[in-house]
Amino acid sequence: MGGSEGDDPDRWERMYRDEDVETMSWYYPELDPDFREALAELGISGGSVLDLCTGPGTQAMALAQRGFMVTATDVSATAVEKAATLARESGLKIDFRRNDILRNRLEASFDLVIDRGCFHIFPPEKRDVYVENVSTLVGAGGYLLLKCFSYREKRKEGPFRLHPDEIRRRFAGAFEILSISESSFPGNDRKPQPLALFCVMRR
Ligand SMILES: C[S@@+](CC[C@H](N)C(=O)[O-])C[C@H]1O[C@@H](n2cnc3c(N)ncnc32)[C@H](O)[C@@H]1O
Repeated sequence: MGGSEGDDPDRWERMYRDEDVETMSWYYPELDPDFREALAELGISGGSVLDLCTGPGTQAMALAQRGFMVTATDVSATAVEKAATLARESGLKIDFRRNDILRNRLEASFDLVIDRGCFHIFPPEKRDVYVENVSTLVGAGGYLLLKCFSYREKRKEGPFRLHPDEIRRRFAGAFEILSISESSFPGNDRKPQPLALFCVMRR
């Protein structure tokens, strides 16, 4: 079950060209509560952060407002352009770039990388490439905060569903897995909110 969002870059690009970001189901204008709480618990209040698959850029902007040095990437050029325009208009300094995480061209490492709804797009055969590429982007001792749909989510449409065992199996070689907790995905028009897993990992 799941996987209907697909991982075709052209499809994502068309979506961002044709639709307003505020109408997208994952759109959430504030910092996602799981990220907010994890940062507080880990005592992280600044440093460099990469918002992987930034989409509407809301998480990148919320982190920039909190004083983080933010880089934000997405496979969709239009998503990046729209988010960069909004950030500029809001007076926020964010380094927005187009980047496909499966063919990563970003040569940098960050104190923190966040993934809100990206890993769960990819089918099993692409997940190890994702892990390999993301692991180069998290500096030694840095954190990866990852939020994905949970295996407990029963609706038919949407991305792949992940089980904690699958997260451990894929990430344990490159990361220390500090916690995997049950959560939900706040966004537009999705009631009840889809069930999620929220994962905290350290490099
Ligand atoms: C579910 S949306 C989440 C967007 C954003 N993180 C948020 O929470 O609002 C998934 C995002 O992943 C992006 N994406 C899909 N495949 C990608 C890839 N291979 N590399 C980078 N971004 C990708 C899409 O364009 C889309 O913006």
